[in-house]
Amino acid sequence: MSIKIDPKALEALKNFTLPETIGFGSTLVPIMAVCDYRDGKWGELELLPYGPITLDPTAKVLHYGQEIFEGMKAYHTDGHGPYLFRPERNAQRFNESARRMAMAEIPEEIYLEAVRSIVGHSNDFIPTNSGESLYLRPFMIATDENLGIKPSDTYKFMVIASPSGSYFTTGCLSVLVERENVRACPGGMGAAKTGGNYAGSLISAQRAKKLGYQQTLWLDGIEKKYIEEMSGMNFFAVIDGKLFTPKIEDTILDGITRSSLIQLAKDQGIEVVEEKMEIEKLLKAINDGSCTESFACGTAAIITPIGKFGDVSGTEWNVSNPEGPIAKKLRGSLLALQEGRNEDQHGWRETVKVVCY
Ligand code: COI
Repeated sequence: MSIKIDPKALEALKNFTLPETIGFGSTLVPIMAVCDYRDGKWGELELLPYGPITLDPTAKVLHYGQEIFEGMKAYHTDGHGPYLFRPERNAQRFNESARRMAMAEIPEEIYLEAVRSIVGHSNDFIPTNSGESLYLRPFMIATDENLGIKPSDTYKFMVIASPSGSYFTTGCLSVLVERENVRACPGGMGAAKTGGNYAGSLISAQRAKKLGYQQTLWLDGIEKKYIEEMSGMNFFAVIDGKLFTPKIEDTILDGITRSSLIQLAKDQGIEVVEEKMEIEKLLKAINDGSCTESFACGTAAIITPIGKFGDVSGTEWNVSNPEGPIAKKLRGSLLALQEGRNEDQHGWRETVKVVCY
C-alpha cells in the first residue's frame, strides 16, 4: 500500500512548531491523509497539507448525518516509539460503523497506511510526557451532491491528528445519572461511532454542566434501569473487589480501551464481571461501601476516576475511594504498554516507521 505525498505537506511540516500549551484536540499537525470513494472504488491515498475541504451545500453528510469516525493515539515517551495500540481493531470497528450507517467500507490497508503515514511524519510533534500522545481522528463523510434520502455513492475518508494532553482537566469526574433522555435503543445506532450519537448527547451534557456535573451516565432506553455508557467512554465499577462493566449490546460502543482493560485485569488476577448493571444496585453499593471505585475509560479518557454520582433531584452518591488501587494499577499497566515500557504479551503494540523529510 502506498501514499502519494504532496511536497507542500512536507513544507508545512518543516514550518510547524508545537505551541507551548496543547490541550486536547485543538492543535492539529499541518498534514492530513485523504482518500475518496467514487464509482464503486477507492481512489489514491494522498498526504496533503492540513486545510479546509470544499463541500457542495447538498452533500449528504450535512443533511442526513452519514458520517463515522474513530479515536486512536500514537505514543512516544522516554525515547520509545512511536507506537500505535491495536490499530487493526480501530480499522475493523470503523468498518462495523460503516456497515451500520450504510456507507462504503474501506480496505483496512488504506485505513492503516493513512494512520501510519500521519504518525510517521508527525513523530517530532508527539508530546513525550506519560499520558500525552498524538490523538488521531480518522473519519469518513458522505459527499453525494443531492438532497435525496438514500445512501451516498461517494465518500471522503480522512485522517487528521492532534498532539494532545489530558482529555479532562480535573482528576476526578462527577457524573449526572441521566433519567430523562436516552442515548440509544435496541436496533438503533448506539454501537456505531457516528456523529449523531454525540450530537444527541449534548442536551444532557448541557444539563449536567448546569447542575455542576462533568459527564452523563446513560441508562438503557427501554426501562431506564441499566447502566450503558458515558458518550465517548465506557463505564467500570469495583464492587466487593470485583471489576464490573456493562456487557456490550447494540446500544453500547464496544470500546477498545474497555476490552484491553478487561484482559489486563484478568492477567492481574482480578475477577471481571460483564453483565447488565442496574443503576439502583450501583448507587446502593456506593452507599453501603461495597462499591469502592468507579471509573470511565476510553481512548481519549484513558482511565478517569468517577468520584460522585448525582441526579436531577439533587441526591448525590460519593464513591469512597475513586482513585483506588485497581483503577490506578490498570491505568499504570495500560499506559506502560501503550508507551512501550512493558512487555507486550498480547501483541497489541505496533512500532511505526519514522519518516524523515
Ligand atoms: C475517544 O476516546 O477517542 C473518543 O472518541 C471520545 C471522543 C468524544 C473524544
